[in-house]
Amino acid sequence: MQVTIQPLKNQQLEQVLSLDQVCFGGIWTKGAYEREIASPNSFLLTLVQENSESKQQLIGIGCFWAIVEEAHITLLGIHPDYRGQGLGELLLCCLLEGARTWPLERATLEVRVSNTAAIALYQKLGFEIAGRRKDYYPMPPEDALILWRSRLDEPEFAEQLKKLQEKRCADLLTKGWHILQSGEGFNY
Ligand SMILES: CC(C)(COP(=O)(O)OP(=O)(O)OC[C@H]1O[C@@H](n2cnc3c(N)ncnc32)[C@H](O)[C@@H]1OP(=O)(O)O)[C@@H](O)C(=O)NCCC(=O)NCCS
Repeated sequence: MQVTIQPLKNQQLEQVLSLDQVCFGGIWTKGAYEREIASPNSFLLTLVQENSESKQQLIGIGCFWAIVEEAHITLLGIHPDYRGQGLGELLLCCLLEGARTWPLERATLEVRVSNTAAIALYQKLGFEIAGRRKDYYPMPPEDALILWRSRLDEPEFAEQLKKLQEKRCADLLTKGWHILQSGEGFNY
């Protein structure tokens, strides 16, 4: 199996809406994704799986907005059939590497307090809990934790990201996944 990490393309809009639905319950519309593709302040990566019949399927998505010197992570999702294998961590590493090379100094996001999988993943990458927004989410109503990761520009963090990416790619290879990266302006 082959997975390519690449920016979202217009021809993937229908697939991205399906993935958005299964990962987030449908938070962004087609128009919203079109605006993301066009926006110079949005960094939006996808994981595209190619099977043995060369059929492509979108299985992961991650996005941040560059606001002043901050990366606001707006999306991170892996298709439920592909979770628990390291793809979410790899995608987050790629987003943070994108933020570093932008260059941005800090990353932040909100996450449901019950979302233990996502919180554990972010904490693994050095995110810390900085606060809580009461009843931030609807359906079901729930508080959000505000997470921050500072010092993206430090060489130690660049090294940590590189090691995590290499470890994940090697581990994914043992599970039969070949990871590729492609795309204009996507040079890490
Ligand atoms: C959060 C999400 C992206 C993780 O993707 P994933 O591919 O399953 O995660 P990975 O396999 O890469 O796991 C990486 C790390 O995340 C944490 N993690 C992942 N799943 C976990 C779980 N079920 N319970 C606890 N920790 C978990 C672990 O720290 C794991 O590291 P480890 O393998 O060394 O234990 C995925 O669960 C998802 O798409 N969830 C729905 C959308 C969502 O909630 N996004 C976040 C919104 S802020």
